[in-house]
Amino acid sequence: MKQILFMLSALLFCCCSSDNEVMADEPANVGKTLVVYYSYTGNCRAIVNTLTTQMQADVLEIQPAEKGLKYEANGYELGTQLLNAIKANPNAISSYPAIDPVETSLSDYENIIIVTPLWWSQMAAIMQTYLFQSASEMADKHVAMIVSSHSSGISGVVSDARRLLPEVTWMGDALWINASNHSKRATLIENWLTTLNFAEEETTMDKMFITIGGQTQSVTLVENAATRALVERLKQGPVNVTLSSSGGFEIWGALGFSLPTSNQQITAEAGDVILYNGSNICLFYGSNSWSYTRLGKIDGLNESELRNFLKAGENNISVKLALAKTTAIKDLTPDRSRSGEGSLYSLNGQKVKNPTKGIYVKNGKKIAL
Ligand SMILES: Cc1cc2nc3c(=O)[nH]c(=O)nc-3n(C[C@H](O)[C@H](O)[C@H](O)COP(=O)(O)O)c2cc1C
Repeated sequence: MKQILFMLSALLFCCCSSDNEVMADEPANVGKTLVVYYSYTGNCRAIVNTLTTQMQADVLEIQPAEKGLKYEANGYELGTQLLNAIKANPNAISSYPAIDPVETSLSDYENIIIVTPLWWSQMAAIMQTYLFQSASEMADKHVAMIVSSHSSGISGVVSDARRLLPEVTWMGDALWINASNHSKRATLIENWLTTLNFAEEETTMDKMFITIGGQTQSVTLVENAATRALVERLKQGPVNVTLSSSGGFEIWGALGFSLPTSNQQITAEAGDVILYNGSNICLFYGSNSWSYTRLGKIDGLNESELRNFLKAGENNISVKLALAKTTAIKDLTPDRSRSGEGSLYSLNGQKVKNPTKGIYVKNGKKIAL
């Protein structure tokens, strides 16, 4: 009975959604947040259109390879079949419906917002395909999700997302938009964006963030010429380095650029972030005495947590150095067509209507109020 009621009223809901145009000319790879969505009847598309008036983001629409299918025909028969195939064997790509090739590379994005319909209390099969095939590329991303359903609760979709993306860092709770509040989505999205706490993660110049395998830790930087130069370099965007274990006390490797040195004979200890020979970064999980330039210290981890975080003993570890946990400032190019010249944005790219004291981005430049 519940399902029949849902089917009748869902039909009405889908037909009533008229706000369904997407920004087709959205430039790729300019922002640091990517909104990925799938929409069968237009509701998720409308949600994405609303979302992108409130924050700067690139948009990627996932499309099924087979066009013109009626997932809802014959009592939602096809939609149900697709979901059952995934359920029967969720680890095989052959269980997932084919989608059009996706050219957008995720490597330039720090944050992904997934916008997906709910199908029979699960994530729509088409979006599941994209997440299944992108899981490793997404591993170090910060991910948030908006789910659109007619009326069913979204816990099943959240479970699907966690199964499909086991390694990502989830940003807050997923936002549920349903038929009864779809028309109020602007307010719902605005409130939800503030709960993601981007602002709390904004950088100060004495902090850097290190991300390894999906875990991000802050580093308190010391004040010297090397850290000032490093901060300037990181303002241009995150730096990815490949580090390897050495001597049973550190992971280290080339930065790819040089920093000014002020070398001294010191004993580096677990947690220390050190510049070696001007162009190498060393992250310590043990101790060693040498002529080093100190850069800072990883916050809040004990020795065994540091060994885990730094993957002690391993080689070729991908490490990202960044000034912010989320979006880099330089990429917040204002889109004047949508937001008007001179609009203020928070450091994560959210448009700010009533700014209080703090740091904002205006016309692509960081300003303090
Ligand atoms: C195959 C299929 C199954 C669905 N199952 C449910 C459901 O179990 N519960 C529900 O509330 N809505 C269900 N819906 C409705 C969609 O979740 C809802 O209309 C959503 O807003 C669609 O987003 P879209 O317009 O972007 O495709 C289903 C829709 C389809 C096509």
